[in-house]
Amino acid sequence: MGQIGCCESAEQIEQQSREPASALSRKDGADIYNNRMVETQPIVTITGVTGFVGSHVAATFLKDGKYKVRGTVRSKTNDAKIGPLKAGLGDLFDELELVEADLLDEASIIKACEGSTYVVHVASPFAPQLPEDELVKPAV
Ligand SMILES: NC(=O)c1ccc[n+]([C@@H]2O[C@H](COP(=O)([O-])OP(=O)(O)OC[C@H]3O[C@@H](n4cnc5c(N)ncnc54)[C@H](OP(=O)(O)O)[C@@H]3O)[C@@H](O)[C@H]2O)c1
Repeated sequence: MGQIGCCESAEQIEQQSREPASALSRKDGADIYNNRMVETQPIVTITGVTGFVGSHVAATFLKDGKYKVRGTVRSKTNDAKIGPLKAGLGDLFDELELVEADLLDEASIIKACEGSTYVVHVASPFAPQLPEDELVKPAV
């Protein structure tokens, strides 16, 4: 009997895959559930994906193709913010998962980052003329 992947025999995989709710992780990042190959991609969450920096970071990860890319916005119905992002990303926009989160609402940020392997935190008000409460509180 030949080897599956680089390290486990078919017998080992079959025995382990009978265990409930367990998956075998291979070195290449794929998982095997009940002898079925399931490709997994690490989730990267980018806060402030509508922003100048966030949109470029998102485009870089999406073009790379090795990540499931999630981006936070304060409102998914804010066309003034989402429209330019959509236009800038083109077809890649369809690969982007948008979730709502506000830096002033800790629970929303924690929820947005759930399951992420990486978080790129670039959301921040970027207008020095804002009053301290609106500029510093969300940033810190
Ligand atoms: N632009 C530059 O050249 C540059 C250079 C160096 C460092 N930086 C730093 O990078 C960071 C981002 O700059 P930027 O140019 O990308 O700013 P930006 O274009 O104004 O984008 C700001 C982003 O932050 C989000 N945001 C603002 N307040 C938020 C809040 N309370 N909760 C959740 N999201 C919030 C906005 O989301 P909404 O769509 O919800 O408004 C938007 O996506 C800033 O800290 C800035 O100092 C920027």
